[in-house]
Amino acid sequence: MQSVFLIPPETVEFLPENYFAPLDLAAVFPGRPDAPLEVDLGSGDGSFLVAMANRAPERNFLGVERLLGRVRKTCRRMARTQARNGRIIRVESHYLIRHLLPRGSVSVMHVMFPDPWPKRHHHHKRLIQTEFLDAAREALAPGGELRLTTDDLPYFQHMRKVFSVHSGFAEEPWTPGPDYPQTDFERLFRSQGLPIHRALLRRI
Ligand SMILES: C[S@@+](CC[C@H](N)C(=O)[O-])C[C@H]1O[C@@H](n2cnc3c(N)ncnc32)[C@H](O)[C@@H]1O
Repeated sequence: MQSVFLIPPETVEFLPENYFAPLDLAAVFPGRPDAPLEVDLGSGDGSFLVAMANRAPERNFLGVERLLGRVRKTCRRMARTQARNGRIIRVESHYLIRHLLPRGSVSVMHVMFPDPWPKRHHHHKRLIQTEFLDAAREALAPGGELRLTTDDLPYFQHMRKVFSVHSGFAEEPWTPGPDYPQTDFERLFRSQGLPIHRALLRRI
C-alpha cells in the first residue's frame, strides 16, 4: 500500500544548526515553544511518540534516537498523522540531556525499555546511572517527571539502587491507564507474557 504523507517526512527530524549550545525550542517547535515538553529517550520506531503527540496536541514531544533507520521510520509514522507537535532528533541520549536540553525545560522525560546490557562488564553502559539522574534533574522543570519502564528485572533492581542514593527525586506510585500508548517493545514483551516494571520519579 502506498503511504499518504500529510507533510514531508523529513521535516519531522530536527537538525540542530549548533550541537554546542542548548536547543532553541522556538526552532524545534515553531509557534509553540512554550507548550509543555515531553522527551522520549531511545524512542525506537516511534509508535509511542506518535501516539502521544496525537493524543495531547497541546504538548510538545521530542523523540531521541541514535539509529538512522528508526529515525526515518518515526518521521514517516509522524508524517502520516495530523500531529504537528512531534519531532525527532538523532543524537545520543546522554549528550542531549547534558548539553542540548535547556535547563528546566522538560515536563516529562520517558525512558521506555532502555537497552538492559545484561553482562556485568557492560553494566557501565546502562543509561540509568547517578550521572544520568543528575543531568535529568537539571533538564526537568520543577515538579517534572521521569517515567521509566523495563521488562528486565535485574536492570529494574539496578535502577532502584541508583534512585535510593539520589536525593533529587521522590518516587511516586504509577499505573498507566488502559489507554496509555504502548511502545513497540512493550507490545512485543506483553505478547510474550513478560512482566513490565515501572517507576515514576518526581523532581523535588
Ligand atoms: C530496546 S529499544 C526500545 C525502543 C522504544 N523505547 C520501545 O520501547 O519500543 C532501545 C532504543 O534506544 C536506542 N538507544 C539506545 N541507546 C541510546 C542512546 N545512548 N542514545 C540514543 N538512543 C539510544 C536504541 O537504538 C533503541 O532504538
